[in-house]
Parts: sequence; structure tokens; C-alpha cells
Amino acid sequence: MYQNNEIPKEKAFDQSIQLIKEGYSFIANRRQELNSNIFESRLLGQKAYCLAGSEAARLFYDESKFKRAGVAPLPIEKTLFGEGGVQGLDDEAHKHRKALFMSLWTEDALSELRQLTQHHYAKASEKWQESKSIILYDEVKIVLTRVICEWTGVPLEEDEVEDRAEQLSEMYEKAGYVGLGHFKGWVARSRAEDWISELVEAIRNSELQVDEQRPIYKFCWHRDENGELLDVETVAVEILNLLRPTVANAVWITFAGLAVHDYPQEVEEVRNGGSQKLLYFCQEIRRFYPFFPFTVAQVRHHFEWNGCIFEEGTLTLLDLYGTNHHPDEWEDPEVFNPARFEKTEITPFNFIPQGGGGYESGHRCAGEWMTLTIVEESVDLLINQLDYKIPDQDLSYDLSDIPALPRSKVKMTDIRLR
Ligand code: HEM
Repeated sequence: MYQNNEIPKEKAFDQSIQLIKEGYSFIANRRQELNSNIFESRLLGQKAYCLAGSEAARLFYDESKFKRAGVAPLPIEKTLFGEGGVQGLDDEAHKHRKALFMSLWTEDALSELRQLTQHHYAKASEKWQESKSIILYDEVKIVLTRVICEWTGVPLEEDEVEDRAEQLSEMYEKAGYVGLGHFKGWVARSRAEDWISELVEAIRNSELQVDEQRPIYKFCWHRDENGELLDVETVAVEILNLLRPTVANAVWITFAGLAVHDYPQEVEEVRNGGSQKLLYFCQEIRRFYPFFPFTVAQVRHHFEWNGCIFEEGTLTLLDLYGTNHHPDEWEDPEVFNPARFEKTEITPFNFIPQGGGGYESGHRCAGEWMTLTIVEESVDLLINQLDYKIPDQDLSYDLSDIPALPRSKVKMTDIRLR
């Protein structure tokens, strides 16, 4: 596969426009053409390596070979991540900050998250019963904004819920856009950072009292590896690293609505199969449907791997969606089949919807358990607690849109609580 000790190269100029056009399929299209899980391309005016599959993922998550500081393209930093957050740290600074996130997921905290999700869905469902129709994606964003603000200890007035839900979602909805769309994402981040920064200052000045067990309190008083308090903006960025991606779960929950509509046999399995079948269904949603196309790092130092030379400083993309759909990793990857999780051996490198590798030291998503908890509760609601109709609508989605979503965002009518 890797002949002449060279990484196969695309014979083309800068591919940034193609990346925007091809979206989730960009790396897979070239991987197939070049018959290689590693190839060289040109993106954003520079050389870039593209990696796919579990073997390449294992390499990508070797921290002695790749680093993250200063890697995220500016437009992504300005919308999705924010500046100074855990995503762009390396080594000791990263481990220390990541430990703060990982300390949040106690059994009690996750169980409270589950209860809050159930509670806010129950309240919303009562309202949905009185509406002629709802758009699942829009409603779930609002429910999850309520859930995550309560869970983190961020005060939220009733009259600001919709506005905050919009701000939080624009940060991930617009991250892949260019032009005006991207500008909206930028504005949303800036407004959200102002909102949270004010709260952080008020907590630090004792003008606002919050429960010491809440993440917002812990983040406000967290000290870095040198014993210093984080600056207010960085605390705001990290709190938004809890709020924004939780609301982003609305994307997969909307796809869950599509899956429930498209795969009635699998739904029957969940109805009759208890919590294990529910888990498999949710895992297959995370594998099958798109969300994060790829993640990025940079070669730390020159190194050689399987005869290929990796040059220091080169931008490197790991194909997350493509690895979850890779035919060498998954049998019939384009078939929605939750039962595959009964027999497929899952490793930190073959199933990587939220990144791979380790949680504590690597950059794997800090919110995977939260996501599973929320997606499980959502699928349970859709399958076991609600009756509803899905009228004629455009449920198709386009793999060139990042993030992709069913076009109608899943319209539901005649909603009844069972
Ligand atoms: C829709 C659900 C989610 C998806 C698709 C997702 C996806 C991802 C991906 C792809 C990464 C980067 C992995 C890498 O670069 O190696 C990541 C990192 C991260 N995610 Fe998530 N995520 C989700 C939900 C969450 C939630 C609910 C939280 C927290 C409440 C969260 C917090 C984080 C944090 C803090 C990082 C940075 C970790 C680090 O750099 O060490 N995510 N996520």
C-alpha cells in the first residue's frame, strides 16, 4: 500500500474548495482513488496528510508524534472551539485541564443528567401534545439548553431560553460555513462568551451564589498546572465546551427521529429488547449518521512509520466519519444495523464518532458518556413514550453539508404521550 517509502499524493492543487463541496466524503473519495489509508493533499494553502481506518487512527492519537496547539484553523477557533480551550492544549497543560472535565462525570452527576433530561422532555412533551406540529431539531435544542444550564449551574431565565439555544447552536451549525453564515457563528460565540464571562466575574466577586458542586463553580475556581486561576475568557470558553456540544446532541437526536421512521424493524427490536438493544441502537446512530467529519492535528517532529516519512509541522486530518464507514473495519458499513454491536469488537480506534484514543491523556471527546445518556433518553422517548405521525416531508440529508441534518429537521404531528 505504501510504495517507494512515499505517502501517496493527490496530483492536484489546493483542495479546500473540494473539501467544502464533498464534505464528509472528501477523505473517503481520495482514499478509494489512491487505494491508501494515508495520503497527501493540499488544504488551506498548505500540505496536509489525510488518515483513515483504525491503524492510522492509532498513529494519529500517539501524542509523541502529533500535537494540537495552534492547529485548529482560525475560522473554527472563532466559532466552534473558542481560544484557549482544552482542544488546543498539549502535554501537561492538556492533561491538567482535561482532568477537570473528566472529574465531572461521577455516577451521581450522570444520573442527575439522566433525570434532568427525562424531566425536561416530559414537560416539553406535554406542550408538544397541544401543538399541531413540532420540528424535532428545534425543540430538542431548547430542551437540551434547559438541561445543560441546570446541570452546569448556569442561571437561565425563562425568557432567554430560545435565544441562548440559538446562540449555542449557531456556534456548531455555522462553523463549516463561509461568508455571512460564518459571520453569524462568530457573532454567536462572541455573545455567548460575554454572557458566560459576566457570570464568571459575578461568581468570583461573590455577587452570584452557585452550588459548589456545580461545574460552573468548579471551573471558576480551577487552578492551572502552575497554580494560577484561569482568566475569565478561558473559563467562559471551557463552560461553553460543556454547553455547546450538549446542545449539539440535537443533531444526532434528529437523526434518531429519522432512524425510528426509516427502520421500523429495528425499532421493534428496541421495544422488545430492553436496555441492551437500546444501547446498540444509539451506538449505531453515532456510527451511521454524520456529525464531526474529521479532527485535526500537526506532526510534532519528523518521523517514519511503516516506511512513510511524516514531515514536521504538517497539518494532519483523521477521518472520523470515514473510519466509522470503512469497509475494512465494518461489515456492510452503509447498512443501519444496531445488532452489529453485539459481535463487532469495539476499540478506541475503530469506532470514533467523537474521536478516539484515551480520555484522560488524549483529545478524545470529554462528553461521550453524556452524549450516550442523552441520546438513550431521547430514543427511549421517541420509541417508548410518544405516539406521533411523520407527515410527508423532505427527510433527505446531504453529506456535503457540515453538519448534515435531515432537510425538514423532522416534522412531527399528532403527538400523544402514551
Ligand atoms: C453530539 C455529540 C458530540 C460529538 C459529535 C462530539 C465530538 C467531539 C470530537 C470529534 C472531539 C475531538 C476529538 C479529537 O480531536 O480527537 C471532541 C472533543 C471534545 N468534546 Fe465532544 N462531542 C460531542 C458531545 C460532547 C459533550 C456533550 C461534551 C461535554 C459536555 C463534549 C466536550 C468535548 C470536549 C471538552 C472536547 C475536547 C477534548 C480534548 O481536547 O481533550 N463533547 N468532541
